[in-house]
Amino acid sequence: MLKNPSSKYQPFPLIDLQNRQWPARHLTHAPIWCSVDLRDGNQALAVPMNVSQKLEMFDALVRCGFKEIEVGFPSASNTEFSFNRRLIEENRIPDDVTIQCLVQAREDLIEKTVQSLVGAKKVIIHMYNSTSPAQRRYVFGMSKEQIIGVAVRGAQMIKDRIHRLEVGGTRVTLQYSPESFSATEVEFAKEISEAVMDVWQPTPQRKMILNLPDTVEVAMPNVYADQIEWTCTNIKNRDALIVSLHTHNDRGTGTAATELGLLAGADRVEGTLFGNGERTGNLDIVQVAMNLYMHGISPGLDFSNMNALIAMYERTTGMTVPPRQPYAGELVFTAFSGSHQDAIKKGLAGYDAHKTIWDVPYLTIDPKDIGREYREVIRVNSQSGKGGVAYLLESEFGIELPKDMQREFGPLANDIVDKLGREVTAAELKDMFWKEYIEREQPYALHHFHADGVDGVFTCRSSIVVRGKERGVTGKGNGPIAAFVHALVNDAGAPAFEVATYREQSLSSGTEASALAFIQIKLDGGKTIWGAGVDTNIELASIKAVLSAVNRATE
Ligand code: KIV
Ligand code: ZN
Repeated sequence: MLKNPSSKYQPFPLIDLQNRQWPARHLTHAPIWCSVDLRDGNQALAVPMNVSQKLEMFDALVRCGFKEIEVGFPSASNTEFSFNRRLIEENRIPDDVTIQCLVQAREDLIEKTVQSLVGAKKVIIHMYNSTSPAQRRYVFGMSKEQIIGVAVRGAQMIKDRIHRLEVGGTRVTLQYSPESFSATEVEFAKEISEAVMDVWQPTPQRKMILNLPDTVEVAMPNVYADQIEWTCTNIKNRDALIVSLHTHNDRGTGTAATELGLLAGADRVEGTLFGNGERTGNLDIVQVAMNLYMHGISPGLDFSNMNALIAMYERTTGMTVPPRQPYAGELVFTAFSGSHQDAIKKGLAGYDAHKTIWDVPYLTIDPKDIGREYREVIRVNSQSGKGGVAYLLESEFGIELPKDMQREFGPLANDIVDKLGREVTAAELKDMFWKEYIEREQPYALHHFHADGVDGVFTCRSSIVVRGKERGVTGKGNGPIAAFVHALVNDAGAPAFEVATYREQSLSSGTEASALAFIQIKLDGGKTIWGAGVDTNIELASIKAVLSAVNRATE
């Protein structure tokens, strides 16, 4: 990189916008959405979609609620042309959905585009030509007047042909994009757009779409917003226009530019699912829609089954949704840090109790609203606290660790995870718990247990294996557990201890139900230690829990 980048790059000039309004506004409703997945998204794929992939995506976009869908560039290839024909001839376009086609301002291409649309109910013909100084100079070698001439001639060629669609009952809307608008002088973008308007003669009753693309992001999003507000304020017949935004993401601010552009007065937004598109991609429509949703504004698009949408997207495009992609990524409802996990757990419990406005820390929306599960919220790695460990054991396996036991097992689990150097699954966590507590048979293992009581005094006669050797033990107490503790200390040489806490739970329902017992013992010196046992019989589960604690204390 250059030590002095100003020798090669320059700042973007500010827009002279008097009495700027957009910073004080807020968004109150969703814009008109137009998906450009099948055109801008598709043209950026290493292997563009075939007709059946495009059909699958078209149907999915319709299910999401898109009412305007740019289906392709029908003059560009046979695949694109025949996709239009299949959509129309197989009657796949719902009555409330308008298909949009892109075309350059060239007669042969316009002619082919019109042919591809015959028989459709509602169409948008989208013509573009590039207007920025660099495009004028390097690509076309044309003056401003010549560039306007290209747009005006193209607009006229389209106008001359739309009656051929209209006689067949097709409702035609016209759209013009001064491509590379954000890198174009606002005065020139206005001039060329008004020249196209002079040909198409839009009215408030029959508007045209003026799409103002941020073809390549060249400035901060506030500058794009200024360009949009400047245009909305200065262009003639604003009420005959639907002003549309089309941002890309070169500086990583496509979403911000779109949101500020909406504040600045635009009515419509073009973008793609998950931001697929040329270079760094198009605007991710899911993000803008979900951002509205999290402020309580209905976006008019439905992403209730986000996982199915991602699967469709990955299947048809061959692209993947990154794990940190806002709203859609695999990790966006996951907290790795223990303090986050704890706050989320408390927030979810608080929300469940009141079910009012969503205010769970660290979660911008309820994952359930887009078909995600709470269990995705918490995973365990070396940074997780006891809360995360307990949450996973409970949510995945119904194991409800007593609070105090969480304080003992949490750090043990974290140590193991730390050594593994990776995140662990819930099943691995359960294994750790089983190894630490349940599968403890040294130095004491239960061989046989029997206890009965007379007048509140219980006698235990059991046999246990001590360091590989079986021996009979007896003891007395006010219950079976107390009698077993007595037998263990008296006859098997276990250190003196008493039972400090006892908890039991069942693990599953039905005849195979298992009982899980947790016992905390207190050794003579005051040290406490936990044990756990599992059995179909609750009495045996608690006896095993006693042995688990004693084994952990004597190892
Ligand atoms: O990015 C762009 O400018 C485009 C136009 C064709 C609208 O995709
Ligand atoms: Zn684009």
